[in-house]
Amino acid sequence: MSSRPQRLQKILAQAGYGSRRACEQIILQGRVRVNGQVVTQLGARADPHTDVVEVDGKQIQTPAKHTYILLHKPAGVVTTRYDVHARRTVMDLLHGVTTPVFPVGRLDADTTGLLLLTDDGDLAYRLVHPRYGVPKTYLVEVRGEIGEESIHRLRQGVLLEDGMTAPAQVQKIRYLAPHQTTLLRFTIHEGRKRQVKRMCRAVGHPVVRLHRERLGPLTLGKLPTGAWRYLTEEEVAALRRAVGLPH
Ligand code: URA
Repeated sequence: MSSRPQRLQKILAQAGYGSRRACEQIILQGRVRVNGQVVTQLGARADPHTDVVEVDGKQIQTPAKHTYILLHKPAGVVTTRYDVHARRTVMDLLHGVTTPVFPVGRLDADTTGLLLLTDDGDLAYRLVHPRYGVPKTYLVEVRGEIGEESIHRLRQGVLLEDGMTAPAQVQKIRYLAPHQTTLLRFTIHEGRKRQVKRMCRAVGHPVVRLHRERLGPLTLGKLPTGAWRYLTEEEVAALRRAVGLPH
């Protein structure tokens, strides 16, 4: 794989040799070789994927380059790579993306909001595995005026067909009198199938609308419905931190 040359201190930092400042010191101390030549200049660049970079005689490991895409999913598209019924999928919205990314977790067809797609299997696995407890926050509109008792039950965890859910953070935003619905902000740390809908139904308040606004450190910002963008390096680093991966 070839990529753009980058400053040596950045390459070292990405390979886990400490902060950029610490990596500058390593360079100044003459401990770094690029293709066999000692390099002590701080402005020097190398291609982490084609040049051989060594620290103290040991070749550094460069992280593989992955693709991370944030999609503002509209209603009416399914979260899958291929749909046997030929319905519109989230992949149909990724115009111009040539890497074979896959969705991280699933949003129901009628759910809108933040969906991450990537080809980074390690990160994806940790983001959906309950052991890592990555918070997912939803704006939820439920039927009826939800009372304190139901909110308390949701907060404690609800018994579903597949067992007890972990406690959720639930905040009542307001009752929408004209619609006779209640708006909630709901954070869960698991990702079971249709979990929010099943939890709300279990306490007698079926979901009318569901929108994911946050996944760990990621938010949609001003990304319009149906649009996508690549994650910034800072966002990727924050995600990796959130699941205990080096960055
Ligand atoms: N919980 C649900 O019930 N549906 C979703 O799409 C996401 C979370």
